Amino acid sequence: MNAENETSLVKEEPDYRQSKSILVVDDDESVGNLVVKLLERAGYHSLLRLDGQSALEVIKDGKLDLVITDLRMPEMDGIELIRKIKKINEKLGVIVITGYGTMEIFIEAIREGASDFIVKPIEKDQFLNAVDRALHRKELEESLLARTQQLVQAEKMATVGVLSAGIAHEINNPNTFIRTNLQLMNEYIKRLKPRLDDLSVEKNVKSLREIILKEFPDMINEALKGTERIQKIVAGVKHYAHKGDGGFAENVDIREVIGHAVTLVRARLRKHITITESYLNLKEIKGEFSKLEQVFVNLLVNAADAIEDKVKAKRAEGDTGFMGLIDVSATVIEGDDLETGANPEYLILTFYDNGPGIAQEKIKKIFDPFFTTKPVGVGTGLGLYISYEIIIQHGGEITIQSEPGEGTAFIIKLPVEGASIKKQSEKPEQEKPA
Ligand SMILES: Nc1ncnc2c1ncn2[C@@H]1O[C@H](COP(=O)(O)OP(=O)(O)O)[C@@H](O)[C@H]1O
Ligand SMILES: [Mg+2]
Repeated sequence: MNAENETSLVKEEPDYRQSKSILVVDDDESVGNLVVKLLERAGYHSLLRLDGQSALEVIKDGKLDLVITDLRMPEMDGIELIRKIKKINEKLGVIVITGYGTMEIFIEAIREGASDFIVKPIEKDQFLNAVDRALHRKELEESLLARTQQLVQAEKMATVGVLSAGIAHEINNPNTFIRTNLQLMNEYIKRLKPRLDDLSVEKNVKSLREIILKEFPDMINEALKGTERIQKIVAGVKHYAHKGDGGFAENVDIREVIGHAVTLVRARLRKHITITESYLNLKEIKGEFSKLEQVFVNLLVNAADAIEDKVKAKRAEGDTGFMGLIDVSATVIEGDDLETGANPEYLILTFYDNGPGIAQEKIKKIFDPFFTTKPVGVGTGLGLYISYEIIIQHGGEITIQSEPGEGTAFIIKLPVEGASIKKQSEKPEQEKPA
């Protein structure tokens, strides 16, 4: 590699460039060779194909970082090539080169997914800058995606932290009565020994029978119920902490998701907060269980926190009788899409709490990342931001209705058929006859 050929505008390490493979597609071999030479001199790994079909063969191998293609080519032109590339690998960046500088063809190329264009005759610095931009765009998008996923997981773990005291309590309770029952059985066995030694006495046999066949089974069954409760809550935490796989096409029973979320949060609730659930006309929806659970846990924890604030304020005024209420309701309704005339079904979920409500100016900021009114260690301000993102990814909407002093309702609308509904309803608009 000749260092003098490095352009001052591009400052990457040679290693970075050597790790990048760029495919050049041009039916004019001399132009193609020139482009390859430019790229090789700048340190990239580059190869040339003279027509769309053989270019696609290379692309199918999947080891490329960028494609640079001519637009005017016999057989398969650049536009058709982009279309086919995007079908194979939607994320692969494409830069188009053309000497035919008409606006329409550029626009069409960009619309098909090209990320940039270069006009012939090729100017070296401009060209290499475009290549660097395209490569970085891809990396930026990838790292952004990875970072978002990390953030989602971090928020989840923070919530597990917030819930842990309640979870520990919830495990301790049944464990205490399992212990008590086992100790009791131990005592019994000690006392039974003299009776076992003399089974000729009718009374001894009778009391042994009573204890072994009735009292022991009762104690054992109670202990078993306790272990079941522990198992359920441990499974709940494990399930919640588990990273979702990002698949939004699971068949989800929303009642089950809410059930899991309520179990986790209930452990943390004090006696003065009740959660009620009501369901009507439900059916399975397409979505991701673990992500939806994350949203619901967030909304429930927020509701409980809000109620605690109100309880504190009421107590300060001398009112000790306030009872908190969280109500979750879910129902499926038939919507009507004015654009398409279709009647897609929607799941409508409402999370209501009779907490302090939210002032109008705060509602505007509530979905912003890091917006929180809670002390450090309690709030992250990420709960609603992430919940919003998750609902949008499901093709849904989340809105707030709140009456300061009275309470708050978060309303979620999710397409039963999953995120695809939104996309479908966007398309036909262009195809409609004028
Ligand atoms: N049900 C609710 N009632 C009143 N205020 C709420 C409610 N839910 C959320 N908020 C407000 O929105 C803020 C942001 O919530 P969120 O994004 O979940 O972050 P965090 O719970 O970590 O503060 C909360 O700090 C609180 O002020
Ligand atoms: Mg929260």
